[in-house]
Amino acid sequence: MYDRFNRKINYLRISVTDRCNLRCVYCMPEEGVKLLDHKDILTFDEIVQVTKTAVRKGVDKVRLTGGEPLVRKNIVDLVRMIGEIEGIKDYGMTTNGILLDRFANDLAKAGLQRVNISLDTVNAEKYKQITRIGDIQKVFDGIKAAREAGLEPIKINCVIKNNSQEPDAVEVAEFCRKNDLKVRFIKEMDLETGSFSIVEGGFGGDCAHCNRLRLTSDGKIKPCLFSDLGYSVRELGAEKAIGLALQNKPKSGHSNHTSKFYNIGG
Ligand code: 5AD
Ligand code: SF4
Repeated sequence: MYDRFNRKINYLRISVTDRCNLRCVYCMPEEGVKLLDHKDILTFDEIVQVTKTAVRKGVDKVRLTGGEPLVRKNIVDLVRMIGEIEGIKDYGMTTNGILLDRFANDLAKAGLQRVNISLDTVNAEKYKQITRIGDIQKVFDGIKAAREAGLEPIKINCVIKNNSQEPDAVEVAEFCRKNDLKVRFIKEMDLETGSFSIVEGGFGGDCAHCNRLRLTSDGKIKPCLFSDLGYSVRELGAEKAIGLALQNKPKSGHSNHTSKFYNIGG
């Protein structure tokens, strides 16, 4: 499918939950956030139905995000259900890695192809500061488990303050080089002010080449991370919600006052 600026849209990012087992300082307040009501969260069947519709319209790349996708109950079942949809060529998940040690094998068996893992520093104390509660060893174990399960290529998402020369970023790059991981540096963004920038080593943030639509955990198709636009699949049906998002996808984003990373999934 093509939007009105003739961009080919073939990538759907699905946020499966707004919950997270970490509290990264740039993403969530320490006390957590007001969570969505269970009844407002799409069921697995609803998510699959939206995904099937998107695939029929030309999506061949799907990524599961959160919050933290692995905290959604029975996530492996959803991974399998989406994995069974014919026509998806690239099927990944973005995770903080904390629970990957436990899940990597089951995810691979359920059809997931690869994972992106968030890691902003390789220093245990700094990791604890940034995530407020995270144990970095769990992430290292998760990376190992993902590799053993064949969830490759593994990409590391590293949020930076200014540039990839800052000390934590340099150390993460070195860690990735040694461990045969791909690294992408994502400049810390502020959705409300619309301060965003392109992702070094990835394709995010480049409006002219944007190929994405997003599905939020409460069932809105969002055409752009930096826009308040969203179309409810429960109210409109998947077909129409996707169609409207496609038609109204902005040329470039400005700001977003209604979403945060934990409910739109980055
Ligand atoms: N700016 C940039 N990246 C962010 N992420 C979460 N919040 C922000 C922010 N404010 C990142 C996470 C993860 C990805 C899904 O989004 O670190 O790698
Ligand atoms: Fe959780 Fe990711 Fe937000 Fe950190 S950035 S609190 S891991 S959703």
